[in-house]
Amino acid sequence: MSRAACLLVIISLMSPAAEALDNGLALKPTMGWLHWERFMCNIDCDTDPNNCISERLYMQMADVMVKEGWKEAGYEYVCIDDCWPSHQRDAQGRLQADPKRFPGGIKKLADYIHSKGLKLGIYADVGDKTCAGYPGSLGYYEKDAQTFADWDVDLLKFDGCFMNRALLGEGYTNMSKALNNTGRPVLYSCEWPLYEWPLKQPNYTAIRETCNHWRNFDDVFDSWSSVKSILDWTAAHQDIIVPAAGPGGWNDPDMLVIGNFGLSHDQQESQMALWAIMASPLLMSNDLRDICPRSKELLQNKRIIDISQDSMGKQGYRTAKGNNFEVWERPLSKNCLAVAVLNKLETGGPRGFNIGAAPGWKICGPQCNVTQILPQYKEMGVQTQQSKIIVSVNPSGTALLTVTPISSDFTRLHKLNWQGTFVRRKHTIL
Ligand code: GAL
Repeated sequence: MSRAACLLVIISLMSPAAEALDNGLALKPTMGWLHWERFMCNIDCDTDPNNCISERLYMQMADVMVKEGWKEAGYEYVCIDDCWPSHQRDAQGRLQADPKRFPGGIKKLADYIHSKGLKLGIYADVGDKTCAGYPGSLGYYEKDAQTFADWDVDLLKFDGCFMNRALLGEGYTNMSKALNNTGRPVLYSCEWPLYEWPLKQPNYTAIRETCNHWRNFDDVFDSWSSVKSILDWTAAHQDIIVPAAGPGGWNDPDMLVIGNFGLSHDQQESQMALWAIMASPLLMSNDLRDICPRSKELLQNKRIIDISQDSMGKQGYRTAKGNNFEVWERPLSKNCLAVAVLNKLETGGPRGFNIGAAPGWKICGPQCNVTQILPQYKEMGVQTQQSKIIVSVNPSGTALLTVTPISSDFTRLHKLNWQGTFVRRKHTIL
């Protein structure tokens, strides 16, 4: 196999260039549950009462989140996606929940979710209609923002279907202001760049000032090819999108589909590891009432969640690729580094990768402490810059490690290695 010359991207230790939306929210990537990928627009409560979009689904999910350790692990938001409203606004022009599926209404549901110590998210659309054809918010931004605030909603996912692309910026900005004017802190999750990319390169400075997170790319499906396509898109656009992320505003590569049907366990580990490296919102879309113990353990893995929620809030990125491996790295607080090695070869067996060949390994000078988190937890002890540590990575799986420098010289070396915005270098790995 030929050696490939690859890109090494180095991110600044400075704060993101733009100010984040100043609503005090999403200082760390949002954690919670969102119905869409798993439950979609199932409104058939007559034949499928357990899985249809109804108040029962969110109440049951909230119950499980408290009972089964999800809340304790950090998952906080229970989020409604499309297909919750009635097809008609009420006499005052307000959105209203489908009366059959949400007999108590959204305010009562919010009270229930809050009584569990959790938060409620809701969904609307910047255009004429939602993607599934329910009433859109165009012409009603203030009214809808006030309605959500009156219901004590904590998060709004604002979709971008049925909207003139040239007016997306105006629409998303006006809704952001409308939410702010209610006085209620409502986390604002946008899809502005996703819908704008076909027209022009989005202005990420404006997006960061307007939204708490933003979708850039296609919907995630329950398949490895979907997860891979999201990773490929992210790496291909990292120079543009990574600098926009930081406390208060995050790139959103869409939901975690761990615990469903389409990913092998190795692939689930890859999604969890890479979503933590990418400082992505961790919004699960699965059935928490019925999830296998291994997926649950992975989603609740404290060491991975600690990487995701790292207080410095720098998004990681792909630093090298070659020989069907990809190395992704995320600078962490206290001068640490998280390294993920993804084996993209979907044939054969486990393959060894020398972690000492990761571009960020330079920080291990003269010594560092290494911990492997995936596929198994393993203390790898004190290492040096010269160490050759082979980690074994299954096909479509990921090894995830943290590197903690233990040198007094570290500060100098770290500055040398990580300073400057996006210094491009050619890098080859084995
Ligand atoms: C899509 C959006 C999905 C989901 C769906 C609902 O456009 O990206 O995440 O919200 O609409 O209809």
